[in-house]
Amino acid sequence: MPDERENQHSRYRQIAEQIKQAIRNGTLLPDSRLPSVRTLAVQYSVSPTTALKTLRTLEDERFAVAKPKSGFFVARRQANIQAPRAVQPRLIAPLDEQTEMHLAILGSECRVRLDLANGDSSLYPVKKIGLLMRQMGYSKPALLGTTVKGTGYLPLKQEIARRAIAYGCTIRADDILITNGCIEAVSLSLRATLKPGDVVAVESPCYFVLLQMLHNLNLRVIEVDAGPEGYVDVEKLTALFRRKAVQAFLTISNVNNPLGKSIPNEQKAHIARQADENDVIMIEDDIFGDTAFGERRPFPLRAFSPNAILCSGFSKTVAPGIRIGWVHSVNVMRKIASLKYTSTMGTSMLSQAAVAELLRSGGYDAHLRKLRRELAAQIQPLRQALLREFPPGTRVSEPEGGYVVWVEMPRGALNVRELFLKAREAGIGIAPGHIFATDDRYDHCFRLNAGFGWNDEVAQAIRQLAQWCRESLL
Ligand SMILES: Cc1ncc(COP(=O)(O)O)c(C=O)c1O
Repeated sequence: MPDERENQHSRYRQIAEQIKQAIRNGTLLPDSRLPSVRTLAVQYSVSPTTALKTLRTLEDERFAVAKPKSGFFVARRQANIQAPRAVQPRLIAPLDEQTEMHLAILGSECRVRLDLANGDSSLYPVKKIGLLMRQMGYSKPALLGTTVKGTGYLPLKQEIARRAIAYGCTIRADDILITNGCIEAVSLSLRATLKPGDVVAVESPCYFVLLQMLHNLNLRVIEVDAGPEGYVDVEKLTALFRRKAVQAFLTISNVNNPLGKSIPNEQKAHIARQADENDVIMIEDDIFGDTAFGERRPFPLRAFSPNAILCSGFSKTVAPGIRIGWVHSVNVMRKIASLKYTSTMGTSMLSQAAVAELLRSGGYDAHLRKLRRELAAQIQPLRQALLREFPPGTRVSEPEGGYVVWVEMPRGALNVRELFLKAREAGIGIAPGHIFATDDRYDHCFRLNAGFGWNDEVAQAIRQLAQWCRESLL
């Protein structure tokens, strides 16, 4: 195994050396365009990740500079005066082909489902929602029979606004737009506020769908590592704001995916103040906020600044298939509404009405209490098995809510890409660490889902994963 990793390791160095040679001997002139990630990958028969790593190595060693939307170019001599590597904005690599294929088929062909971040349908009030849809479809035919207009079903927006008071946000229903899931809400927010090439600070590790979304929007990122408490290093983050190194901060500040931690309120207040003082746009994905296990639901950043854009939804609490999300913004609602209109136009009124009725009738809070209790109970056996079965030195996160745990294998263990492929062969789905970053910093990590409960098959899968890990250390 180490040989294979060494090979991968040296491969990008070899390619980088060849390109450096071509730059030194003048074959590649200053300012000329370097091959794209894809071209390089094909040319040298390597993965896009290795190709990107090659280009980044050239960038780090100041042989190349990255230009937003255009790619990498041979550096001029004066490019030596660049910012230090740690704060260089980065382009995001496309997912490697196997991972992309795997993610595209999520929901099928997997015996042990540990790769998602949601739960078994028994955790959700799906029967109730089904019944509400039937009743409302019958009693209010206009929900289906008329064109979807405006920014959403008003009673739902009013329920969302009413509930937001409990987590510190005074929101007008008019400043809410209903979306097709939280992901659409985040995408609209990014598109409404940023332009290609802008730099976004994200928490690292970062939920891979957000990274790929930034990639697709031609945005660059600066990944800010989590501190020892498991949430973003607030000092490093706000230093970026003060240096004007980023235009936006995209955060899962409550029950982060994948680390499961929430940024404490005082720190959120500090982040919001610093962002406002430095004109940094805040976009917050609060989809897991309602799943927090503690006594009090954590506040979002929006509670500390009216400028924060708040995105959330009901996929993690009401039903994964309901596809109802929402976005709230004081400043850019018109832009968001216009983007929504020209992309998906509207969101199913019947689904919105069913969720509104669930929230209105009071059943939602009782359901949330039960959901949180069950999730907290399901995570425990998974954590314990991981700690018991994996070799010493393995670290397992202690989530404060949600569905997932983050596992760090000891240094020297097999590359998680290899673990991912072995697991997939055996019908075990895991979310490999490398897709949560733009580089190889999580190549020894993976994320597991506890949402489908604990049973013999999961126990056996954990033993198998642990065995592969142990064998790789021999
Ligand atoms: C942080 C985060 N945001 C959004 C989503 C998806 O939201 P939706 O299904 O409502 O689009 C997920 C799903 O795992 C998630 O982890």
